Amino acid sequence: MIITIDGPAGSGKSTVAQTLAKRLGYRYIDTGAFYRAFTLKAMRVGVNMKDEALLKQLLQETKIELRNSEGGTRVFLDGKDVSEAIRTPEVTGNIHYIASRPALRERLVEQQRMASEGVSAVAEGRDTGTVVFPSAERKFYLDAGVEERARRRYLELLETTKGITYQDVLEELKKRDERDTSREASPLKMGDDFIYFDTTDLAPEEVVEVLLKKI
Ligand code: DC
Repeated sequence: MIITIDGPAGSGKSTVAQTLAKRLGYRYIDTGAFYRAFTLKAMRVGVNMKDEALLKQLLQETKIELRNSEGGTRVFLDGKDVSEAIRTPEVTGNIHYIASRPALRERLVEQQRMASEGVSAVAEGRDTGTVVFPSAERKFYLDAGVEERARRRYLELLETTKGITYQDVLEELKKRDERDTSREASPLKMGDDFIYFDTTDLAPEEVVEVLLKKI
């Protein structure tokens, strides 16, 4: 059984998908973590983000894994835990160089599918119901107003990022929405077989309960 949850940044996907996976005893697959981890690798190596041939080669030598631990799923890049390092604004700002290239997406999607082999899973991202798992049994789309999404993201980032302002977060989110929905390669969009939820006025626990009923 595969359940997919797609939607824009800050729509509550991650919290909801993680809780849902835990409640059902399914594996949680954070597809964004794959884009984040490879972006971090390219930044660390110092590859020119516009050099697709080199990025492709680098990706061949890259291993990204999700491992379960007591405190939740951890992200490993070439055997090292990068769960926190992949969430910095610098990484977020560079992801579009990776996420916009079909050849790189193809390889990352393969790794995401491999992560779900032989198990039931809840996958979340931008294209999990449309591209990664088109035959998933249940497909959800979570949405929320951009200001509410920025507020959520701001509160999250306050704990880790010095000097961050709400206005910065709102601007970054609008830019990312535009990139995620308008790129040619697997843009964020809702398929006909998706169930839509607006989470603006709902707490994550309430969303989980509604999704569980649908499942
Ligand atoms: O869900 P997130 O914020 O960790 O995702 C970070 C970025 O990764 C997102 O803005 C676009 C890209 N992404 C993608 O292109 N496809 C996915 N399935 C998941 C994320």
